Amino acid sequence: LWLALGIRRRQPGEPVVENGFFPYLGCALQFGANPLAFLRGRQKKYGHIFTCKIAGQYIHFLCDPFSYHSVIRQGRHLDWRKFHFATSVKAFGHESFDPRHGHTTENLHQTFLKTLQGEALPSLIQTMMGHLQDVMLCSDTLRPSVHSWEVDGIFAFCYKVMFESGYLTLFGKELGEDKSQARQAAQKALVLNALENFKEFDKIFPALVAGLPIHVFMSAYSARENLAKTMHAERLSKRENVSDLISMRILLNDSLSSFNDISKARTHVALLWASQANTLPATFWSLFYMIRSPDAMRAAQAEVKRVLDAAGLTPDPKNPTLNLTRDQLDNMPVLDSIMKEAMRLSSASLNVRVAKEDFLLHLDNQEAYRIRKDDVIALYPPMLHYDPEIFEDPYEYKFDRFLDESGQEKTMFHRNGRRLRYFYMPFGSGVTKCPGRFFAAYEIKQFLTLVLTYFHMELLDPAMKVPPLDQSRAGLGILQPTYDVDFRYKLRHEF
Ligand code: HEM
Repeated sequence: LWLALGIRRRQPGEPVVENGFFPYLGCALQFGANPLAFLRGRQKKYGHIFTCKIAGQYIHFLCDPFSYHSVIRQGRHLDWRKFHFATSVKAFGHESFDPRHGHTTENLHQTFLKTLQGEALPSLIQTMMGHLQDVMLCSDTLRPSVHSWEVDGIFAFCYKVMFESGYLTLFGKELGEDKSQARQAAQKALVLNALENFKEFDKIFPALVAGLPIHVFMSAYSARENLAKTMHAERLSKRENVSDLISMRILLNDSLSSFNDISKARTHVALLWASQANTLPATFWSLFYMIRSPDAMRAAQAEVKRVLDAAGLTPDPKNPTLNLTRDQLDNMPVLDSIMKEAMRLSSASLNVRVAKEDFLLHLDNQEAYRIRKDDVIALYPPMLHYDPEIFEDPYEYKFDRFLDESGQEKTMFHRNGRRLRYFYMPFGSGVTKCPGRFFAAYEIKQFLTLVLTYFHMELLDPAMKVPPLDQSRAGLGILQPTYDVDFRYKLRHEF
């Protein structure tokens, strides 16, 4: 009967199992309502590791940060590709990237490392800085004035500015020889359409990951396909200043895969999503918390001034061509801490590996547990990020939490007197760690630098409470606010 119901019984040596109340869903509803409270409750009851059935899948949750390395280091028993490739296929509808399925021999991981890190970064940074200033000051996206305040939602503001700048940085502009106003307007319309389609598609992303077919969501389906239409190879070939990432992916789609044209285009939609879905809310939380904290604003302003002065740069909103090198951006620990603290409070990505075979998982306390082939092992970083023994007053935003006594990046965090190797994981861990994390951090720092340089900013209601996190996306990355927060901004006379 147990087998017929798809219910697992705990075998000797295995973690405690909770099958939940519902045959297929298992604990999915309780987990989804408040993952952190759910996991904390189970941790108290069962200890460092336990197993829950969630939407048909048995997941072992590992809750002891000192045992994380046994999952994170690339062991021969654990597979990260299976889950990631399958999720991408479910959400974006392209053919599989898993080399074992025979559609491509591209090593996607290598493509990402080559085109998003190391030597690829300076040009990404420079292009992004140009687009950010164009969008903020030259195009008609914002139209800020010295004389009067503009009112907008902080999320809406970040969305507009970061989406357009990030989109153009990766996918370039479709202008060609024709630089006429009509051509520029068509280019602008392309980006605005992409933004609307992205928003529509992104809304149902959690449902797709949970396994619902996209055809259930007609408008999201057409939004995704509209995005894909703009990313067919012949359309992309007309663009200028396409990033190395997209150029290389076009090349490898053509040379190493048997994907059809629609599949190829959908792989680019997947990258648009990866580059934006977390960055947009992360930028919101960074800006929101910074504006809300007078101390953070003061410290950030002083840091930006120091860096611009040292570089001999004078901001001019009529000719906005500021540029900061990678080294200069690396030398901004206050902005770094402002951003990290914002992500500590809003990140909720589930780190997942799949067992390739039956094996014994060894924990830090010398215990070992039997894991079955095809089971999933998961780490949930908010367990760390909200742990009061690691971060004092964990629900409070402290802009300098990631600064040490000398004002530099703080890298030592402890629990029970022991130094932690893993204490901050919004970008995932080990081999699946986000390959765009360096660029993401630079673009948010660039954004903060520029808004601080060019604008006065105030919350409309300085006593505004922090909006709750939208838990419907828990497990997928940086959570969005459940509602937007209004602020006002105007151009500075001088810096
Ligand atoms: C994957 C976080 C920005 C490109 C991921 C993952 C996380 C993440 C948690 C999954 C890791 C895992 O499964 O363990 C973030 C956050 C960002 C951000 C918090 C911003 C604050 C970016 C940007 C890009 C990017 C700007 C590209 C320009 C990617 C790619 C993957 C990925 C390509 C898939 C990697 C793979 O499956 O091999 N990101 N990301 N991300 N991210 Fe990011």
